[in-house]
Amino acid sequence: MTEAMSSDEMIRLCKDHTLYTWAKQSAVHPVPIARAEGIYFWTPDGKRYTDFNSQLMSVNIGHHHPKVRDAIKRQADELVFAHPQSATAVRARVGKLFADITPNPINTFFFTLGGAEANENALRAAKLMTGRQKILVRHRAYHGATNLTINLTGDPRRWPNEPSAPGIVRVLDPQPYKYSFGADDETRAQQNLLYLEEILMYENPKSFAAILVETVTGTNGILPPPKGYMEGLRRICDEHGILLICDEVMAGFGRTGKLYAFEHFNIVPDIVTLAKGLTSSYLPLGAVGLSDKVADFFKENVFAGGLTYNSHPMLLACAEANVQVMLEEGMIENAARLEHVMKDEYKKLAARHPTFKKGRAIGLFGMIDLQKNSKGEPLCAYNGTSVAMTEFAKALDAHGIFTFVRWNSFTCIPPLCITEEQLRETFATISKCLEVTDKYFES
Ligand SMILES: Cc1ncc(COP(=O)(O)O)c(C=O)c1O
Repeated sequence: MTEAMSSDEMIRLCKDHTLYTWAKQSAVHPVPIARAEGIYFWTPDGKRYTDFNSQLMSVNIGHHHPKVRDAIKRQADELVFAHPQSATAVRARVGKLFADITPNPINTFFFTLGGAEANENALRAAKLMTGRQKILVRHRAYHGATNLTINLTGDPRRWPNEPSAPGIVRVLDPQPYKYSFGADDETRAQQNLLYLEEILMYENPKSFAAILVETVTGTNGILPPPKGYMEGLRRICDEHGILLICDEVMAGFGRTGKLYAFEHFNIVPDIVTLAKGLTSSYLPLGAVGLSDKVADFFKENVFAGGLTYNSHPMLLACAEANVQVMLEEGMIENAARLEHVMKDEYKKLAARHPTFKKGRAIGLFGMIDLQKNSKGEPLCAYNGTSVAMTEFAKALDAHGIFTFVRWNSFTCIPPLCITEEQLRETFATISKCLEVTDKYFES
């Protein structure tokens, strides 16, 4: 057994010898994590945090589930690795399981190591099948950090990676931010679709392989699409022979109160991409789910892509146990039920805190925006920071709430095993932390 490490030593060695993502290294303040269970994790010094972001919006079943750990151990004893051209029992079981639980006609899966690789391979499949090169994406989107996927990303993480790869066309999302495009959500969605079709017309619709969207936008706002939008995208894709790809890396696997977020709408995409909740991040796995028409194309055409760790037995065993736990323990139903509790807690916060602007939630996929005045101006600018938001982040940390504070918003994305009592308790603590931001409200 290795000796326990103190928080200070852990932080120092990690910072001295490993590189942190998306950060100037001198500005990084990592949370030291020694163990985790359910919705909580602990530092080596024993401080407990409520994980209100499921680590990276990904530990969907909660931490340290014994059934998933046992499945990983069993697979390690049976067969640790097999090359991607082989057949294994676990690959056979998981392929069939996923075909059974995924709406038709998605019946074939290509396994990767994470979300970006899933999107890369989804687009590879779309380009090979259609013989077209262009891709339509949106501004409020994150699709990964590889060279292609960061350029498919609309948010500022793309900027240092520009100039963009060729053939990417970007459109605005259906949710208005600065400007209002219509009376209500449904009208706005229809107007946004007209605008999207106009862009396609100028760009030559027959040159597009795919429209790639996060079914529910994740880091860029937790934005469920307005009524009619996804159905409209499906219609537009069908009219022009474009493949619809739903990126469900964050929104999929129970997060929204359904196994797949697209099940909230009346559509099935041609391709769906998954990662994160697919294994609850116990091991790194991504997947590309192909509808029959795409999979059939590759029966007689080469799928020109590969990965050493494609269909890795350990990762698939983890995914299998993760899905079983999620289904057996009713976690997806729990997420659907607790959406109402989350919205009820938003109402209480709105009544108590002038800086509370708006809360959104679909299942246990939530976000709260903060404002600095009654005009609704954000508590800090897009891609910016402010003293109020920094103080708020410190208060959350001091109260043992781990969440993702970004610009003027923060996430409410707990593991799907959270109870109503734990959820209400967490919001009571968040309410205390909002007393800090309220001091900055300009009345
Ligand atoms: C919607 C979405 N797509 C793709 C990715 C990339 O996944 P990964 O980091 O596993 O490559 C992410 C990661 O946050 C994501 O949220």
